Amino acid sequence: MMYRRNFIKLSFVCATYLLVGCNSDKNSTSSNNTVSLDGFLINQNLNIPALLNPTPDINGIKQFNLNIEERTHNFYTDVASNTFGINQSYLGNTLLLKNGDKVSINYTNKLQEATTIHGHGMHVPASMDGGPYQRIESNMTWSASYTVNQKASTNWYHPHLMGKTAEHVYHGLAGLIIIEDNESNALNLPKSYGIDDIPLIIQDRNFLNKQLSYAPSGRDIMRGYRGNVLLTNGQVQPKMTAKAGLLRLRILNGSNGSLYNFSFSDGRVFHQIATDNSFLESPVELTSLKLSPSERAEIVVDLANDANGEVLLKVAELIDNRTFTALSISVDAQASLVSTLPLNLTTHEVIDVTQVVRTRNFTLEGSGNGGNPILTINNKAMLMSRIDEIVNVNELEIWHIENTMNMNHNFHIHATHFRPYKRNGSTVNILANEQGYKDCIQLGPNETVDILVRMVDYTDINGKYMYHCHYLEHEDAGMMGQFVVV
Ligand code: C2O
Ligand code: CU
Ligand code: CU
Repeated sequence: MMYRRNFIKLSFVCATYLLVGCNSDKNSTSSNNTVSLDGFLINQNLNIPALLNPTPDINGIKQFNLNIEERTHNFYTDVASNTFGINQSYLGNTLLLKNGDKVSINYTNKLQEATTIHGHGMHVPASMDGGPYQRIESNMTWSASYTVNQKASTNWYHPHLMGKTAEHVYHGLAGLIIIEDNESNALNLPKSYGIDDIPLIIQDRNFLNKQLSYAPSGRDIMRGYRGNVLLTNGQVQPKMTAKAGLLRLRILNGSNGSLYNFSFSDGRVFHQIATDNSFLESPVELTSLKLSPSERAEIVVDLANDANGEVLLKVAELIDNRTFTALSISVDAQASLVSTLPLNLTTHEVIDVTQVVRTRNFTLEGSGNGGNPILTINNKAMLMSRIDEIVNVNELEIWHIENTMNMNHNFHIHATHFRPYKRNGSTVNILANEQGYKDCIQLGPNETVDILVRMVDYTDINGKYMYHCHYLEHEDAGMMGQFVVV
């Protein structure tokens, strides 16, 4: 009875949406500033970025070869759009690495311009970070070679060329790096990639004449550039089939400047199991999940009571107040492999705050300056020739980040996994699903955040790492600084 009711109700919602949602703002479940999806290729089977197989080990080093190319991709039914892709027509292959693996990730730039590829969330030496210093000129190859040295987590790679990050990402350059370890392999979680463990790269884009259009105005740079079409793995409203049981979704907010709030069409409860860089100690129950640009979350949704039904993953963009459907999940009658979530996922180090040796202050500021916004940290716009912070290895610090503006920002640190400590001066404002290791944290208008930071290795006086706002237009407009670990 229960199954049947769900089925009827949800398929009705879905059918209604498909019939009228695309053509009519008035009747659509989306708010009225969402564009018509007429002409877009919708309701296709969800594209799962292929796992890239390493070529046979050379001296025990796994070689991954990635080509950054100009491609075309079918967002529309008729015209192909020009894109950048990495071994794919849009976005890039997924790398699956194991903690302890020796890898060489070889990026060949076949674009007609320079770029870089940064491993976001990867705990690696500065020379392997892929930031603005590791330029890959046109027709050159750059290799990120290192031993994987971090816990199971969902990370990603994307360009990081000074002033060009936003545009390069916008055209399609981004992919996932999934790390597994003994702990993650031992947990009884859904973990078949593309079957019950699904990567979802969520972005929004604007199109002009059926082409990706990256042309932010000064105002867009200030406010963050957002699109009116939502893409899930480069597709508009794709669909997938899942078994009746637990389904794991690894979600990346891969947008340039959007603050997403995820939920399911029926408002159901789900569990978050991982933050940016680690599992949570135990699953955290949620009905909605907020992610700012570059943040990741792994969630598990229980579809056991949805056999023959359908559930939609919805996204509300909180800055422009738009609602989208990210994915429609049809549930078949067969039960899934995993039916209950483990209660304990991992154990985190208890950080003794009396060991904090220093507090560093970072103030996020900006000035409109007419058509040419300048965004700064501590009143300084990013300058490659200036090192902003020198950090001693193994010292526990508080980084106190203050958003002085009446708009959203976030704060990302390269190669470092921190622990959220306080929001607006209080530890109780750090939510249960922030109690893990992270590399990026959201700051709403006029908020302050304190994080506990410890750089644990890779000392190099010449090895420059970045910290910055990951609203990419802000980063490109100066809201970034550099540190070295000594
Ligand atoms: Cu996602 Cu500086 O990086
Ligand atoms: Cu990064
Ligand atoms: Cu910002």
